Amino acid sequence: MAVLKRVLAGAALAGLASAAPLVKKGDFQFVATVPYGDTIFSVGDIDYLASTSSPVLSAASTHSLTTGSIVPFTVITTGDCYVSADFVSSTVESFAEWDDVYSAGFLEGVYISSNCTGATIDPAVFTWAESANVTSLFLSSDFASVNPGKTSYTVSSIYQPTPIECGPYAVAISEGGAASFSLVYRLYEDFQRTFIMGVYPAQDSIGSFKGLPQYLTKFQDEMIPVPSRIYSWSDSRPLAGLRVAIKDLYDLNGVQTSGGSRSWATITPIANITAPAIQRVIDLGGHIVAKFKTAQFASGANPWDFIDTQPPFNPRGDGYLTCDCSSAGGGCSMAAYDWLDHSIGSDTSWSMRRPASVSGTYGNRPSQGMITLDHVLPLGATQDTAGVFARTPKAWAHFAKNWYSPTLHQDSSITGLTEPLIINDTYKWPAKVYYPKDLFEPARNPAAAAIVQEFVANLTALGIQRVDINITDMVLKAPIASVSNVATWKAASSLLITNTAYWVIGKPLVTAWAAMFGGRYPPLDPNHTSWFHFNESTISDDKVAAAIAVKQAYSDWINYDFLGADDETCSGALWVYDIGTGGLPSYRYQQLITTAYPQATNMSYTPPTAKFTGSSVCSFAGCPDYTVPIGQVPYYSNVTFTTEMVPVTINVVARRGCDFMLFNLFEEMENRGMLATIKTGRTAF
Ligand SMILES: *[C@@H]1O[C@H](CO)[C@@H](O)[C@H](O)[C@H]1NC(C)=O
Ligand SMILES: *[C@@H]1O[C@H](CO)[C@@H](O)[C@H](O)[C@H]1NC(C)=O
Ligand SMILES: *[C@@H]1O[C@H](CO)[C@@H](O)[C@H](O)[C@H]1NC(C)=O
Ligand SMILES: *[C@@H]1O[C@H](CO)[C@@H](O)[C@H](O)[C@H]1NC(C)=O
Ligand SMILES: *[C@@H]1O[C@H](CO)[C@@H](O)[C@H](O)[C@H]1NC(C)=O
Ligand SMILES: *[C@@H]1O[C@H](CO)[C@@H](O)[C@H](O)[C@H]1NC(C)=O
Ligand SMILES: *[C@@H]1O[C@H](CO)[C@@H](O)[C@H](O)[C@H]1NC(C)=O
Ligand SMILES: *[C@@H]1O[C@H](CO)[C@@H](O)[C@H](O)[C@H]1NC(C)=O
Ligand SMILES: *[C@@H]1O[C@H](CO)[C@@H](O)[C@H](O)[C@H]1NC(C)=O
Ligand SMILES: *[C@@H]1O[C@H](CO)[C@@H](O)[C@H](O)[C@H]1NC(C)=O
Repeated sequence: MAVLKRVLAGAALAGLASAAPLVKKGDFQFVATVPYGDTIFSVGDIDYLASTSSPVLSAASTHSLTTGSIVPFTVITTGDCYVSADFVSSTVESFAEWDDVYSAGFLEGVYISSNCTGATIDPAVFTWAESANVTSLFLSSDFASVNPGKTSYTVSSIYQPTPIECGPYAVAISEGGAASFSLVYRLYEDFQRTFIMGVYPAQDSIGSFKGLPQYLTKFQDEMIPVPSRIYSWSDSRPLAGLRVAIKDLYDLNGVQTSGGSRSWATITPIANITAPAIQRVIDLGGHIVAKFKTAQFASGANPWDFIDTQPPFNPRGDGYLTCDCSSAGGGCSMAAYDWLDHSIGSDTSWSMRRPASVSGTYGNRPSQGMITLDHVLPLGATQDTAGVFARTPKAWAHFAKNWYSPTLHQDSSITGLTEPLIINDTYKWPAKVYYPKDLFEPARNPAAAAIVQEFVANLTALGIQRVDINITDMVLKAPIASVSNVATWKAASSLLITNTAYWVIGKPLVTAWAAMFGGRYPPLDPNHTSWFHFNESTISDDKVAAAIAVKQAYSDWINYDFLGADDETCSGALWVYDIGTGGLPSYRYQQLITTAYPQATNMSYTPPTAKFTGSSVCSFAGCPDYTVPIGQVPYYSNVTFTTEMVPVTINVVARRGCDFMLFNLFEEMENRGMLATIKTGRTAF
């Protein structure tokens, strides 16, 4: 009982006393066998996948079940020497209360396993099983022989080699009479079309995954297999049981990485290794459940420029708002599905931050070099970063602080930044917050501007003094040309991205495609036609070296002169700006924007007196830049012809290396009611 007591501690058990008895309902039905021999079945209205090709326990048994059948089972594993009926019924009720995969339908069979030799069972358990309409009760062979008396169900012994986790299982009965217990996944419908596929572990010795080729024919939506949370209740690793979707740029052993390109999928083999950044999540107990959609090769394409894949749908507002580009499926899946805990995306130019903004979720671009991007399709190696979406500051901080391990930091040969990355987990806030008038003015929607003012006032309530600045003016007056000449650093940034994108993606793709298809150019989305007759001398080694020198100088100025470092605080200042729409809707197709303009906006927007966007700064300087949802404002929708809500977010920037300080600050703001858990669905608040 020790393990269960620990995981069900406190609130979990407190609510149970008054709960109505849980009864089996809904008939079990076999639905299909999927490739690899796994099984889809339904219980009541809910579909499940069972990985019957790789059971976690196969054991001899004295049962009298029909060979070939698959039976939904509830497994209760305990170390107790006496198993009471109260324990069994309250355990089952806690399963139903705390797990979205488990349901009373799994009471078809019950397997109670104790590792205490000679364990005894409360006779009332048999009465309970009868009343719950259990048809088959299995007891591990450690139990002293029992006499259940006359029951409407069968009682059997199972000879088990290893204990298994509590939770729902599918039990298959093989010819020889052995009972095989397989893990169960609930199949959730991806009704926002945010994923390219659901994935689940193959349970093999190399830790590979299987893509689930299953969709709901009524809507053609992918089905995503989500494991029971109960399987992780006894797992003490920091990310145990968290369900995580990853961008389709990260390699996952056993699954194709497409980068949103059918051509790329054609010329590359299925991944045979999992990217180390993702392997770390798995090693910490996280469950990878899906790969989400990206704009092709993580580009900044508009939704209407997605050709190979359909852009995901945004659950906010009228349902036709943009998910933006690149990590599009990550933000919108977090905004849509309660059953998903986190999505992992990437940010080169704005690819975490803008999708977080339009979906009203938390999403970060970490300090440059924070985590390895080996076995991840790159866009611009010196600017690529891996970030995570979340719905609460606490969950965001918890995930990121565990995920971002110093052992996985990138080398300066990749980032182009010679300054070492030192992470400071301080609770001391910067003395000031810069408010750049040139990036906020004129306000595009006064109602959203008022929310921004309130957020900044909340920062000042934490002792962070507001300082109004004009960042364009400060940059133009910087004493080094690599900063003051905006065209210079914009060109350097663009050249470094082209350098990676062409040599690592463009050239190999174009070359392989031409060889396979009679000299043809590969079909690609509109943003990737420039690799045709690409002039390679525009990105000579000299030019790349010069661009890296510009980046280094720019980064030094932004991090150490503009934001500043001192002995007192991690970052001398914070800086805020809006990467989003300023409280206006931006849509998934252009015509809606054009008709409603200027009450609707394109995503790329540079305020009239600014010479660059806020998002471009940390992309090039390597500073952490975090999107935080702070409210919502109404707009009139030309889709629903109703007033709807669009999220309002703000971006908070600190010096490179101060990511954990930002997380600590957001947690403090959550504690004080200044930041909130955002909801899934039509509105974030
Ligand atoms: C018996 O099972 C309990 C709970 O499942 C576990 O904590 C304990 O370590 C096990 N004891 C042995 C000797 O395997
Ligand atoms: C058990 O099954 C019987 C017959 O189908 C049904 O009438 C009864 O309500 C069920 N009891 C429970 C507790 O589900
Ligand atoms: C994995 O794939 C790579 C590239 O396709 C190949 O070179 C390598 O030999 C493969 N490794 C294994 C263990 O199969
Ligand atoms: C992508 O391509 C479209 C169409 O050619 C163009 O309008 C858009 O500006 C491009 N976006 C980016 C980020 O390159
Ligand atoms: C910011 O400074 C620039 C350059 O000096 C100037 O052109 C612009 O008007 C200023 N913007 C605001 C809002 O003060
Ligand atoms: C290729 O780029 C180089 C360097 O920018 C330039 O000198 C040359 O004219 C270009 N070649 C063509 C064919 O455009
Ligand atoms: C971390 O920040 C604190 C102040 O918040 C400072 O005293 C300390 O020196 C910093 N540590 C490092 C390693 O930068
Ligand atoms: C939005 O962007 C598209 C493509 O970049 C452009 O054609 C259109 O004019 C822009 N619309 C507005 C209202 O700025
Ligand atoms: C769309 O909405 C705008 C205001 O948001 C309105 O002025 C315009 O008339 C609408 N257009 C259509 C075609 O409904
Ligand atoms: C500011 O903080 C208060 C709590 O002190 C909170 O209710 C409010 O929503 C916050 N406003 C913004 C815009 O963050």
